[in-house]
Amino acid sequence: QHVAVLHGGWSAEREVSLVSGAAVASALKERGFRVTLIDVGRDLPALLAALTPRPDVVFNALHGRFGEDGTIQGVLDILGLRYTHSGMLASAIAMDKSATKRLLNGVGIRSPNGMVATREQVLSGDIMPAPYVLKPNNEGSSVGIQIVREGDNRHPSYAESWNHGETVLIEQYIPGHDLTVAVMGDRALTVTEIKPHSGFYDYSAKYTDGRATHLVPAPAPKEVLEEAMRVAVLAHNTLGCTGVSRSDFRWDDTISGISGVYFLEINTQPGMTPLSLVPEQAAYLGISFGELVVWMVENAVC
Ligand code: DAL
Ligand code: MG
Repeated sequence: QHVAVLHGGWSAEREVSLVSGAAVASALKERGFRVTLIDVGRDLPALLAALTPRPDVVFNALHGRFGEDGTIQGVLDILGLRYTHSGMLASAIAMDKSATKRLLNGVGIRSPNGMVATREQVLSGDIMPAPYVLKPNNEGSSVGIQIVREGDNRHPSYAESWNHGETVLIEQYIPGHDLTVAVMGDRALTVTEIKPHSGFYDYSAKYTDGRATHLVPAPAPKEVLEEAMRVAVLAHNTLGCTGVSRSDFRWDDTISGISGVYFLEINTQPGMTPLSLVPEQAAYLGISFGELVVWMVENAVC
């Protein structure tokens, strides 16, 4: 089988994707696949159309805009190529955190209270009582995220040099724990708790070895683990995701039962780097990185 692995691109997560794609390509080569590794630029459609032999499957290892947001998926649909992960519509919705929240609230999935605000509203100060979280509506890897706490400067300095679009998502900050759940097909793998060693689970904690501890499975009550896994599968299915996705949560352990579990977002192109969470959950269940990647190729339905 000939697999074209797409990585790189030009989103803010280019570097992450380069690592994900290289890891995927070498795992596939080790397992006897013919692999073409492509650092994606705007000439991708022509390049793919000219590729011989024609790829049987495209492994999409891109993250962020133009890789995870439905645009590349649309190009692959037009070229008639089968690809891993989610299709165009699910990808486009999932990349938009606010659209995802509104859709999933409709099936009873609880997420932090939030609103979309313009840059002007952010700069004006009175948005919602602190603490709250400012997020670009459509970025990954915590790029551009800021937690505003009580007493913080109400005019976050970065807002003045804001370059993530005209609007941001503002959400009530949920104290407690970071949980994440990988979904593979229609099965939730397990729940990981992530404990960054300082600050929050930001870009550097995500991709620098030793800056965060992953607890697999998360040391939370069984009902909390089951709830996170149930919601991750429900979110995956409600958006029409396919292949592998990963849903992120906050869990406020001062609220008893499952009411402290808050859905944050679903990632349709979760990281596949050596420090990434999905391969780690798969390994916990005895599925090696190579087996995971081959499963994704074999289950490319889009
Ligand atoms: N956005 C990064 C790649 C992730 O969700 O793993
Ligand atoms: Mg994300």
